[in-house]
Amino acid sequence: MPKQILKNADEKIKIASTLASLEEVRIEFLGKQSALTLEMKKLGNLASETRKKVGEELNIVKQEIVKLIAEKQISLEEKELEQKLIEQKLDLTIPARTRRTGSIHPITQCMDELICVFAQFGFSLKTGPSIETDWYNFTALNIDEDHPARQMHDTFYLENGEVLRTHTSPIQIRTMQEVKPPHRFIAPGRTYRSDSDMTHTPMFHQIEGLAIDKDIHMGHLKYIISEFIRNYFESPSMEVRFRPSFFPFTEPSLEVDIRRNNTSSWLEVLGCGMVHPNVLKNVNIDPHEYQGFAFGLGVERFAMLKYGIKDLRQFYEGDLRWLKHYSFTSYDVPSLVGGLTR
Ligand code: DAH
Repeated sequence: MPKQILKNADEKIKIASTLASLEEVRIEFLGKQSALTLEMKKLGNLASETRKKVGEELNIVKQEIVKLIAEKQISLEEKELEQKLIEQKLDLTIPARTRRTGSIHPITQCMDELICVFAQFGFSLKTGPSIETDWYNFTALNIDEDHPARQMHDTFYLENGEVLRTHTSPIQIRTMQEVKPPHRFIAPGRTYRSDSDMTHTPMFHQIEGLAIDKDIHMGHLKYIISEFIRNYFESPSMEVRFRPSFFPFTEPSLEVDIRRNNTSSWLEVLGCGMVHPNVLKNVNIDPHEYQGFAFGLGVERFAMLKYGIKDLRQFYEGDLRWLKHYSFTSYDVPSLVGGLTR
């Protein structure tokens, strides 16, 4: 009887061609309902001599079946693995999926370049809020209530009377209130004016600069601005011209023009001047003890001049083709040793 079970099991194990069918064979021959198990259950009814003999026989058969199944399982597993390797073969010749990566907007890049140049001159970085009070944006900067400059600024007013800052100059006031002189910092940021055409966007960027100490004069201003421009454009031969102008917060005030070698037209690039005594008084600095210079520039203008960008509005249209052409990669980090230009 046990011999017959072994024979049947052996045949079925040989036939089993998958792990699942082998499992069925295992249940049939070793499971609770299997002939072998039933035979073992009956052992108790046998006389002790026969019980021992039959018991041993059954056990040997069981061991044998277990062994056969284990062997078959290994060979089936190997077979299945081989099958999988054939089916799931990797085709290394298929081109990889392209991965889209973001890029650095030219304004961000130019900001970093500008900051890099001024860092070289020992200017630190300051920031201020986009929403300003009338006092910080105008009054403290010597722009009176009825001053025509208020109209010139095309201000966005909020319902509570506050404004979206029309320039970065209020950061001068905030910083001078916060820390004692001497000062030497630049302040980059977004600025807002209700104006939109070829040469204006309602949001644009400026960098403000301020240097205040006991012995600062206009020679320092002219040197810093000239050197800044030649460094930024990486053009030692760039011509720089200072022209008298007017800003309420500086006296005297200057407009700065540049001219590339061999080109005949001057381009206006920034405004600057010696800080007006009234501005210093407004932040409780004694103008007889301290004086200095300030400047303000439009980042978009500097980016357009350096990278040949023609239309201001394109900066904020989000056109992917434009961005692809004018943006930078995260490896284009501007530095004084590595260069400021791509
Ligand atoms: N705030 C001026 C503007 O937005 C720019 C400016 C001119 C800033 C002269 C200055 C300065 O600090 O001295 O038009």
